[in-house]
Amino acid sequence: MNTTHFEIKTKSKIYQVYIGESLLTNIVDFLDDKPKRVFVITDETVAKLYLETLTQSLKESGVETISEILADGESTKTLDTVFNLYNFLLENEASRSDMIIAFGGGVIGDITGFVASTFKRGLNFLQIPTTLLAQVDSAVGGKTGVNLNGGKNLIGTFYQPSAVIVDVTVLKTLSETDFITGLAEVIKYGVIMDSELLQILIEERNEIVNRESESIIKIVERSLKNKAHIVGLDEREEYGIREILNFGHTIGHAIESSSSYDIVHGQAVAIGMVEEARFSVDMDLLDIQSFETIVSILESYHLPTSIPDDMKFQQLREIVKHDKKIREGVLRIPILVELGKVEMKSIELSSGQDVITSMERNARC
Ligand SMILES: NC(=O)c1ccc[n+]([C@@H]2O[C@H](COP(=O)([O-])OP(=O)(O)OC[C@H]3O[C@@H](n4cnc5c(N)ncnc54)[C@H](O)[C@@H]3O)[C@@H](O)[C@H]2O)c1
Ligand SMILES: [Zn+2]
Repeated sequence: MNTTHFEIKTKSKIYQVYIGESLLTNIVDFLDDKPKRVFVITDETVAKLYLETLTQSLKESGVETISEILADGESTKTLDTVFNLYNFLLENEASRSDMIIAFGGGVIGDITGFVASTFKRGLNFLQIPTTLLAQVDSAVGGKTGVNLNGGKNLIGTFYQPSAVIVDVTVLKTLSETDFITGLAEVIKYGVIMDSELLQILIEERNEIVNRESESIIKIVERSLKNKAHIVGLDEREEYGIREILNFGHTIGHAIESSSSYDIVHGQAVAIGMVEEARFSVDMDLLDIQSFETIVSILESYHLPTSIPDDMKFQQLREIVKHDKKIREGVLRIPILVELGKVEMKSIELSSGQDVITSMERNARC
């Protein structure tokens, strides 16, 4: 079986990441200490598809398993769900010798991580991510979170899992939209810090689109190693290093929000990357060929590269003005300087030389 693994070193914890095929069937083999009991938190879709396989494998290894199934989707990421999960753990007398497993996409990972980090001041917590986005991004790095009154991830902690087990086989059932959402993040790692990954994305495009395990394992591993490197240097976003992962996300978030979330995260980030890279070209910091390479890779994966005609620049500007990364009218954003390299720069939003103005000018041409 094709399995690879590596170690993540952060200030607060060192842990292993395993990536391979059909890992769900022998989960306990990847754990340092076999827990007596596990609590699996998952959602309805993942439960229907894979919960039986996971619980069977745990049972065969002599681990008692209790599951809790949440509704699918972002609307589950609330404090109400957190309270329900606390009660579920309390009723079952969960203790520090037990383990909590987040079994699902980023929604399940974020909420389970939050509960694991706060219940009895922290329980053992395993990530088994099942969407491409969770496998290449959210399961690693320790950010947990829930939404508050529509504000995304306003409540959260930094809490690293004990291990991350990535079974790429489960991606076969993922919807096309969720698959390309994850791919946008993979392309982002390539663009900001890994030109070899971009090469793989170009050369193995057909295998990746067909979700062939060998190529998927390759891109998941490279993505996670890139993220792990950044998180290792700046676990809690204290040194302005982890912020480079926000490339494409300033404009991306504005597009998502302006479309009332009709444009999904990955699509919005794809357009965001194009616009933020175009800004670098306008500032003479990036050559036009590099810009065109980014556009062509995104297009080859059927990701959008321009905003819908009816989207208003003024509305995007208003949203960007309220971005949490702005201090006194100055936006700190990662700027692409070559393929595989970004630098953090401060942009004054009122200077007339900012990313929205650059988008607007291009749209008028
Ligand atoms: N913590 C972090 O660092 C971080 C980073 C990025 C995003 N996030 C968060 O991640 C969340 C988005 O995550 P997501 O895109 O994984 O969404 P998600 O968890 O809602 O999953 C998307 C859909 O895919 C389904 N699904 C999951 N695995 C499947 C499989 N193997 N086969 C078929 N269907 C499957 C789910 O049931 C769900 O309906 C957001 O809340 C975002 O804030 C967190
Ligand atoms: Zn993202």
